[in-house]
Amino acid sequence: MSGSQLWDDVDFYFSTHLSPDDEVLQAALRDSEAAGLPHVNVTASQGKLLQLLAQIQDARHILEIGTLGGYSTIWLGRALPEDGRLISLEYSAKHAEVATRNIARAGLERIVEVRVGPALESLPKLADENPAPFDLVFIDADKANNANYLEWALKLTRAGSLIIVDNVVRDGRVLDAEGAEPDVRGTRAAIEMIGSHPRLTGTAVQTVGSKGYDGFALARVLA
Ligand code: SAH
Ligand code: DHB
Ligand code: MG
Repeated sequence: MSGSQLWDDVDFYFSTHLSPDDEVLQAALRDSEAAGLPHVNVTASQGKLLQLLAQIQDARHILEIGTLGGYSTIWLGRALPEDGRLISLEYSAKHAEVATRNIARAGLERIVEVRVGPALESLPKLADENPAPFDLVFIDADKANNANYLEWALKLTRAGSLIIVDNVVRDGRVLDAEGAEPDVRGTRAAIEMIGSHPRLTGTAVQTVGSKGYDGFALARVLA
């Protein structure tokens, strides 16, 4: 289901007033489209939410898993101070190339670094560098690995860090407990890990809008 006209119209109304696209964001989507990237970036309303959450966190260090064309990356990167840092992990060299141009156009090339490769290979390398703990982690890549990414996020954060997992509803497919779909299994494992892990407390919120019926999970690292 791609959602209703009403969800679209309400999202358009909100984003027109609260998260208007500028030239840079529009160009990022235009160039992503021209390069044939899938239309699975966050909406403007969601991008603004990510930005607000990063600001509320007073984030200086952000980790993103799943860059695509860098649309969410730009929203998040704009929340960072001059000396802040955002590392974004992307499997596809082609996606990373489009993203790198979009990030440069946004003037964020000194703040954002895109690392190409399967995130489960990039994450141990990143951990070996002993980076400053990430204040916010945005998990938005292959959903089958959501629980694995959550494990890595726990290693790379501090008490008080915020972890966000995108696309946890998928038109309600999250309820398919018996199914074999790897994305659903990965997302359910992440939700259940947030619920049971002693170092995590969280919630999940269902959303409708111009990208249909979906949702995100939020988890705070406790210790
Ligand atoms: N965060 C982006 C959307 C990301 S879409 C936005 O909202 O604008 C998911 C991305 O994850 C795709 O670009 C896909 O290539 C990437 N991806 C898929 N599997 C991956 C993996 N194993 N490691 C890293 N990235 C992966
Ligand atoms: C898909 C991925 C996303 O990150 C998203 O926000 C929506 C859809 C997908 O792979 O279908
Ligand atoms: Mg997503």
